[in-house]
Amino acid sequence: MKPIALTGIKPTGKPHIGNYLGMYRPALSLMENYLGMYFVADYHALTTMHDPETLRNLVYEVAASWLALGLDPDEAIFFCQSDIPEIPEFTWILSCFTSKGLLNRAHAYKDAVDENLELGHDPDERINAGLFYYPVLMAADILLYGSDVVPVGLDQKQHIEITRDIAEAFNRTYGEVLKVPEGLIQESVMKVPGIDGRKMSKSYDNTIPIFTPEKKLRKQVMRIVTDSKHPEDPKDPDDDNLFALLRFFASPERLEEIRQLYLHGGAAYGVLKTELAELILDHFADARKQYEELIEDKPYLDQVLLEGAGKARRIGKPYLEAARKATGID
Ligand code: TRP
Repeated sequence: MKPIALTGIKPTGKPHIGNYLGMYRPALSLMENYLGMYFVADYHALTTMHDPETLRNLVYEVAASWLALGLDPDEAIFFCQSDIPEIPEFTWILSCFTSKGLLNRAHAYKDAVDENLELGHDPDERINAGLFYYPVLMAADILLYGSDVVPVGLDQKQHIEITRDIAEAFNRTYGEVLKVPEGLIQESVMKVPGIDGRKMSKSYDNTIPIFTPEKKLRKQVMRIVTDSKHPEDPKDPDDDNLFALLRFFASPERLEEIRQLYLHGGAAYGVLKTELAELILDHFADARKQYEELIEDKPYLDQVLLEGAGKARRIGKPYLEAARKATGID
């Protein structure tokens, strides 16, 4: 049996190019050497998303995206977190081996507290306990299946460390019951710039969504922020977000040509943006077509996810049983 690579994606926004380059593509390429387990982390989304229709739609959008971008549900195990009843059960068990101080120091919670303090509010104002427990839920996601590696972006590094701490605490008490996973941290996630040059992120509203209608996608690419240099002016390609994005989609030969235009004059931002839009549309042509079909076929998506959940539960059951047995609540 191949080792397991597991990753979850929170359904909080439309998948964009930054997600693709930083997360979908590297995760899918791991399938050569690992059994891929990919899931839609809707319980995690519930910590912040309280509109049922939106949440439901986002789960479908994420599911359709994974499939359209090349996930083969016969090869990988693809499922929705909330279809696994073992997860909340395991979360509780693990929470009893999680020091509260560890959760106090988790970035997302700490940032929320710091923000409250800055505003002169009660430290825990409008923070739900789900947000506080977020890292334990994530540990359950990872530890339930005996995951070997967890490919995530740099922003999730602390969560992997917390997961390891929890597993080690459990094992210190009961012996080697849980597998302590390794994080596979993809540093490059940080290097996909959004249209404003900051990291591409839904929270900055600077993304290029992959499955948006063609016209909108083109428009978004045209909005990439550049300086006010003229086409004939020499420019530094390494200090330009348009070039940084071209880097991901242009062929090596074409990229070198464009680099020369930047260095010696002749790079017109408008023309290059049109080229980038073309390259992106071309790169995702098949995926975009597939997505259109998948998003219209919710019963199919439901069926794929449920089948995946069945497989995931079969892998998870022995770990949960061993954990229950170790604790004495069997
Ligand atoms: N917290 C992750 C994020 O925000 C999503 C996630 C949930 C996850 N459970 C996971 C990632 C387990 C890896 C493994 O992106």
